Amino acid sequence: MSGVILAIETSCDDTCAAVVDHEGRILSNVISSQSIHDRYGGVVPEIAARHHLELVDVAVEDALAQADVGLEDVSLVGVTQGPGLVGALLIGLSEAKAIAAARDLPLAPVDHLQGHVAANFLAPDPFEPPFVCLIASGGHTLIAHVTGRDAFRVLGSTLDDAAGEAFDKGARMLGLGYPGGPALQRLAEGGDPDAHRFPTADGVAGLDFSFAGVKTALLYALRDRPDSDRADLAASYQHAIVEQLAVRTERALRETGLERLAVGGGVAANGPLRARLTGIGVETHIPPHALCTDNAAMIASAARYATPLLPAAYLGLDAYASGERGL
Ligand code: KG4
Ligand code: ZN
Repeated sequence: MSGVILAIETSCDDTCAAVVDHEGRILSNVISSQSIHDRYGGVVPEIAARHHLELVDVAVEDALAQADVGLEDVSLVGVTQGPGLVGALLIGLSEAKAIAAARDLPLAPVDHLQGHVAANFLAPDPFEPPFVCLIASGGHTLIAHVTGRDAFRVLGSTLDDAAGEAFDKGARMLGLGYPGGPALQRLAEGGDPDAHRFPTADGVAGLDFSFAGVKTALLYALRDRPDSDRADLAASYQHAIVEQLAVRTERALRETGLERLAVGGGVAANGPLRARLTGIGVETHIPPHALCTDNAAMIASAARYATPLLPAAYLGLDAYASGERGL
């Protein structure tokens, strides 16, 4: 297909727009982060939506300019439909509908998780299915069996917090800033991961995750042993999260019989997690950091395999907060 794909992603606090061609080559990938949420210790949905409204036109203009294309070169508009913050999603969805309708273009609604999976299909280094995919971010943690470029089956997901959320909340308990993952990793560098034995949700059967226990264990350790070395606490806490993610991943590889693994989501930046996963000994693909965290290039990549809706058919499309596509 000729022309390029323009994609928009606004499911959480990053306003993202990207231009990708139909072969999966990234021509631009604009991410405008809203640091305003740092002072609240987490994302405030109404503030996120308001900022998307201010930033989305600029993000689209920048993405087109950086790709050196105009709207007349766009042949498909891709947009995240869900899951995510509904108010935030609606800004991106409205922008995408308006652009597509004005130019008489087809629109491909994309599932955000399918987008994280599709980050692995981008040039110049596409990773071909079948593979097991671990996605761990601030909003979701799941393990999937990716059977094709347009299909995956969720094998397990978190029963409570996402792994990134567990990092963020642990970091807050340790008096670190938001987002907590990178800060906690830095503090943990000087600590002993075996100093405390924090739970790894061994009681949760199958491939689901739970991070409630490790959070409570850190809370009690801080309360009952206030003189504990903070670096030791951070290292032990991180170790428990990493082990839980890795043990589930090993189990999924065993159960599917696959020897190929892809990793996505912001937590994929974690050094000890990367080391632990690459140590499993299967072929492992971790996209560059900018493609692991929320971005619109991954949404464009997924849009290539979605069924596009023709002009007018998409005008009534709604966003969905969780679960499956609400078409
Ligand atoms: O994918 P992402 O940018 O946004 C969401 O969709 O949530 O992920 C952000 C999450 C945050 O919870 C952040 O603390 C975590 O990823 N994170 C990390 C690291 N870098 C980011 N967690 C652990 N170690 C890191 N180095
Ligand atoms: Zn995400």
